[in-house]
Amino acid sequence: MAITEEFKQELKARTDIADVISSYVQLKKAGRNLVGLCPFHNEKSPSFSVSRENGFFHCFGCGAGGDAITFIRKIENLDYADAVKLLADRAGMTIPEDAASDGMGHLKTRIYEANREAARFYHRQLYTPDGKQALEYLRNRALTEKTIIHFGLGYSPRDRFELVNHLKSKGFSNNEIIQANLANQSKRGFPFDRFSDRVMFPIIDLRGNVIAFGGRIMSDIKPKYLNTSDTPVFNKSRSLFALQFAKNKANGQLILVEGYMDVIALHQAGFENAVATLGTSLTSEQAKIIKRYCDEVVICYDADEAGQKATQRAIGILRPTGIKIRILTVPNGKDPDEFIKSYGDQGSARFRMLLEKSGNDTEYRLGKLRMRYNTDISEQKVEFLTKASAMISELENPVEQDVYISKLSHDLEVEKNAIKRLVEKNSRRSYREYKKAEQRQVQAEMSGLNDRLNKEKHFNLRAANAEEAIISLMIYNPDTAIEIAGHLPPETFVTGFNRRIYEVLKKRVENGQEITPSDISDEFSEDEMGRITKMLLSHPRENNPQAASQEYIEVLKEQSQRLTPEQAASADNDTIMEQLRRMKEKKK
Ligand code: UTP
Ligand code: MN
Repeated sequence: MAITEEFKQELKARTDIADVISSYVQLKKAGRNLVGLCPFHNEKSPSFSVSRENGFFHCFGCGAGGDAITFIRKIENLDYADAVKLLADRAGMTIPEDAASDGMGHLKTRIYEANREAARFYHRQLYTPDGKQALEYLRNRALTEKTIIHFGLGYSPRDRFELVNHLKSKGFSNNEIIQANLANQSKRGFPFDRFSDRVMFPIIDLRGNVIAFGGRIMSDIKPKYLNTSDTPVFNKSRSLFALQFAKNKANGQLILVEGYMDVIALHQAGFENAVATLGTSLTSEQAKIIKRYCDEVVICYDADEAGQKATQRAIGILRPTGIKIRILTVPNGKDPDEFIKSYGDQGSARFRMLLEKSGNDTEYRLGKLRMRYNTDISEQKVEFLTKASAMISELENPVEQDVYISKLSHDLEVEKNAIKRLVEKNSRRSYREYKKAEQRQVQAEMSGLNDRLNKEKHFNLRAANAEEAIISLMIYNPDTAIEIAGHLPPETFVTGFNRRIYEVLKKRVENGQEITPSDISDEFSEDEMGRITKMLLSHPRENNPQAASQEYIEVLKEQSQRLTPEQAASADNDTIMEQLRRMKEKKK
C-alpha cells in the first residue's frame, strides 16, 4: 500500500488523537493535556498523557509513546499499513488500492488473498464426495451446520496437488503459495499441498484476514494437528484462535482453553468469549492482547498433569498484566468440548455452573499449596502458614488479602491477627525489595545505561541532551526548524540515534513537509516513537525558540569537537594541542 504524503496529511487533519485514544482509555483533563491509566502496562495512578494539540501520547511509566498511528499499532497489534487503514476507515477515507507496491507489503497482500481462496476451497470440499467423511466427522463431533459455516471449517483433499493447482488456476505463483505455507517445496522445487486429508480450521485475525490454518487428522496418525508455520502474515505467539469473535462478546471476561475444538464447542454452546492459543503455551504477547479485551480470564485447561502445569505457567504469564484470573477445572479429566458434548442439551447449563463456581487463582494456589502439607502436624502447619502468607502478601488489594487471611484463620483455627502479622512482615520485605529495584532502574535510566535505542547516550550525556532539546524545538517550532536545518549539519550530532531523527526532520523541512509526530511515525519503530515523545515532554515549548536553539547548538558544537577516548589515544600532537587550545578559549 502506498500512502502518499497528501493522504497522510488528510488523515492527520481528520484524526483527533484524543478521540482515538478515548475509545480505549478513559481520559481526564489535566492542564493542557489529558491523562489516564496506561493501556500498555499495569498501573493504578495515571502516568499516561495525551497532547491533543501536538497529536501525541506518552506514558512516563513504561515509555510508550507516539502519534495516533503508533497508538493503534500498539493497541490493536497491527503493522503500520493496517493501522493507517483502520484510522482511515474511522475517518471515512479510502486508501487507493492500486498500490500494493512495496515488496513485503505486496507479498503479504498476496498471502492474505491466497489464504482466503484456500479457505473457500477447503470449505467447498466438505460438500463434495471426497469431503463427505470430513463433514460426517464434524457432525459426529456434534457441530451444527451453522457452526461449521460460522467458523469456515473445511477439508483438505488427500491428493497433494489439488489446492496448489486450484491456486495456480487463480493466478497465484509457486512462490506465493509456498510463502503462505499452503504448500511445501519438493526437493525438485515444485510445490505440493501442506495439508492433506485433514479437517481444516482457518485462523482469522482481528481484521478478518485468514492468516493460517490448523488441520486435524481424522485417524490416530500423528501429528494430530498440523498448523501453518510462521509466515510473513502469521506469528503464532501473537495470535489467538477465535479472538475475532470473542473480543466482541468478552464483556470483561475471556475463557482461555487449549484446543480448537474446545473453542468451537464453547461458542456453539453460547460461550462466545472463548479463545485458544495455537498449539503453544501462552506467551506474554498473547497475555498483553488478552488484557486489551477483558479484565478477567478464566483458564480452562485439561485436568491432566500437563494441563495443570500449563495452568501454572499461564498464571505466571498473566499475573504481571494485572488481569484477574480464575481457574475452571472440568471434572473427570474431560476437556471442555468432551464435557459439553457428554451432557447433550444440558451441556451449556452444566458448563455455566462450572463457570460460576470456578475460584480465583489465589484460592487455587492456596489449595495446591495446602495439599503439600499435613496441617495436623504443628510444624507443617507453621510452614504452610508462612508460605501462604507470603502468597497473600503479593496481593495488592487489602480487602482481598483480608478475605484470605480470614479464610485461613477459620480453616486452620489460628488467630487472625497472627496471620495478618505474617502477611505484613512479608509485604514490608517485598515492598523494600520493590523500592530498591525501582531505584536501580531510575538510576540506570538517568545515566543512559539502559538506553538500548541510543547506546552512545551514556558516554555523551551533555551532547545527547542538547540533541534532544534541538529535536523537540524543531518539532514544536516549524519556523525555527527550517533555520536549524539550514545551517546545522547532521555530523554535528554526536549520538547515532538522535542524528537519524535529525536527518529525517531536516529532510522533511527542506522538502516543505511537516514534522509533527504523525508525520514521522512511519520512519520509526514503536519503541523509537516512544523515545521521541519522551523528548517532547522533557523539553517543553520554549518561549524564545530561536535563542534557545542557538544555545543548544553551541553546546552541541562544543561537544562534537570533543575527542572520544579512543581518538585521544591515537591522536597526533597537533590534534591534541588544538583541542587544548579550544578548551582554554572556552574557559576565558
Ligand atoms: P489436544 O490434544 O487437547 O486436542 O490439543 P483437542 O483440541 O482436544 O482436539 P480433539 O478434541 O482431540 O480434536 C490442544 C491443542 O494443541 C494443539 C492444537 O492447537 C490443539 O487444538 N495441537 C495438538 C497441535 O498443534 N498439534 C498436535 O499434534 C496436537
Ligand atoms: Mn478435545
